Amino acid sequence: MTGSQQGAAAERTNLVTDIAALRADFPILHQEIYGKPLVYLDSAASAQRPQAVIDAMVAHEQRNHANIHRGVHLLSQRSTDAFEYARDRVRHFLNAPNAREVIFTRGTTESINLVAASFGRMVLGPGDEVLVTRMEHHSNIVPWQLICEQTGARLVPAPITPSGEIDIEAFEQCLTPRTKIVAIVHVSNALGTINPVKELTAKAHAAGATVLLDGAQAAPHLQIDVQDLDCDFYALSGHKMFGPTGIGVLYGKQALLDAMPPYQGGGEMILTVTFEATTYSPLPHKFEAGTPNITGAIGLGATVDYLAGIDLAARQQYEDELLAYATAQLREIPGLRIIGEAAQKASVLSFVLGDIHAHDLGTILDRDGIAVRTGHHCAMPVMDYFGVPATARASFAFYNNRDDVDRLVTGLEHAMELFS
Ligand code: ALA
Repeated sequence: MTGSQQGAAAERTNLVTDIAALRADFPILHQEIYGKPLVYLDSAASAQRPQAVIDAMVAHEQRNHANIHRGVHLLSQRSTDAFEYARDRVRHFLNAPNAREVIFTRGTTESINLVAASFGRMVLGPGDEVLVTRMEHHSNIVPWQLICEQTGARLVPAPITPSGEIDIEAFEQCLTPRTKIVAIVHVSNALGTINPVKELTAKAHAAGATVLLDGAQAAPHLQIDVQDLDCDFYALSGHKMFGPTGIGVLYGKQALLDAMPPYQGGGEMILTVTFEATTYSPLPHKFEAGTPNITGAIGLGATVDYLAGIDLAARQQYEDELLAYATAQLREIPGLRIIGEAAQKASVLSFVLGDIHAHDLGTILDRDGIAVRTGHHCAMPVMDYFGVPATARASFAFYNNRDDVDRLVTGLEHAMELFS
């Protein structure tokens, strides 16, 4: 723990250690689907929100909503205070040195597009390279392809191994003096692999590259400390970490953000405008053109507060045990192949079952009240690597339990019966 985290931890008392009890905080889980109790195993696509987050957003809408930063009236001041409080909570969640380095975006996708369009355009030229890995989500591939096309740079994918891990030696060989940017997923949405991003960041820095980490799937499960990771940029989405949709974050080191041109122009991001020239607001507002998702940001702040009340070590132990239990149960099913068997994984089980198409499997499970994701999970290069068109993916959060896993196993057995 760094000094500021120790300080923050000391502030908190009575951290929740009874993780199983937290399921009660999520109202959506307590319903029936087709007459059967819902088993929600699609948190990697979008996690559910606790009542505290819903309440914070409703309270804001009912009592405090007004536009921020520009009103002298009380509602605008309340709204601004709540928005900036949320930014500081996110700063704390990431252990970012200051709130100027926390930019609100629509989500991880927009955060990466911002860096590609602004920083990428600033530093890339013909012959330069952007290094990604073969396990990236499309949102950490396509923005780089777009900027490479515009600048003459080249996108280089670092290889992965059959267990679904980054091949570290090959990654190092991909780093050359031409590598200007390295963009890596912290936790793979398709495989669940937790990548050694601190080590990879250090290697990329030693080669002179700037590093962006895609933290969309890491934020719901891991402690994120951008100072310890020493990454240059870190992107995350509210809705993957039990917060609202349409809100996300880009953390960036201040010196880089200060040097970068704005991503979008409009209100909020300017100091002065004439037809001859415009001057820009200081950070973070330079990158927040237009009226932002105010309620979403406030909901994200409430999400961070909610998570801060839970003992993270207890939560991780609970999630690790649940994943181990689910993995062991699925391995017992004849004809089931798990895609992604990294030594370090977080809460994702991707699999194929015999010849049953993933979409058929998902539909049968749905009728049994079990929600899983099926398809390529916005990671087509991963599917290509493993030679499958699609997988079924069960993704877990701390509100899941062994009963959910047992229901999944029963549902898979049911699907096998129907197809036998
Ligand atoms: N990226 C989201 C997922 O992994 C949609 O399901």
